[in-house]
Amino acid sequence: MRLHDNAASPFCRKVRVVLIETGQVDAVEIVPAVGHALETGQMPLAENPLGKIPVLTRPEGPALYDSRVICRYLDARAGARLYPESRLWEVLTLEATADGIMDAAVLMVYEARCRPEGERSPAWVDAQWDKIARALDAIEARWMTQLAGPLTMAQIALGCALGYLDFRHGTRDWRQGRASLSDWEAGFSSRPAMAQTAPAP
Ligand code: BEZ
Repeated sequence: MRLHDNAASPFCRKVRVVLIETGQVDAVEIVPAVGHALETGQMPLAENPLGKIPVLTRPEGPALYDSRVICRYLDARAGARLYPESRLWEVLTLEATADGIMDAAVLMVYEARCRPEGERSPAWVDAQWDKIARALDAIEARWMTQLAGPLTMAQIALGCALGYLDFRHGTRDWRQGRASLSDWEAGFSSRPAMAQTAPAP
């Protein structure tokens, strides 16, 4: 299999963490890809018409995207149980919340990267951060019990989302006022799979 990947992308990181945690690293060749909507670069457009990564190509079937589909596929392939049946809907909702944090955080980066200075909207960027702050507050208030116990896809996704906030939005200090989530992240980020996949420019 081939994984179209970018070392800075939190969505690609989810997949790389799952590969390590489920013992499937040797089954995949990493294909670095750089690009965005305005300059598609090495984005695998033939495999994903949306021009987004990660994309996983497989000899036995069509290419898979997005990160949620790929992670679920890799979990099933390894029988890893990252989506425990007894709390499937909670795990999927928390993964969706983490992915939403990533979406908003990446949009903030691309607003600065892709738009000329005079066309940028600080209000729109702040609104993206407001989404992130609301999601983090909800996790701190209601979801911490879901982060305890055996490894799940919700934990992996949230670990990658928080790692991306540190990587691209460190000055906004997401830890402020969120002691439980900060403590959880400190422990989770020390897992070897997280340390080995830390985002790189
Ligand atoms: C980034 O440079 O922050 C980035 C790169 C690829 C996908 C998402 C984010």
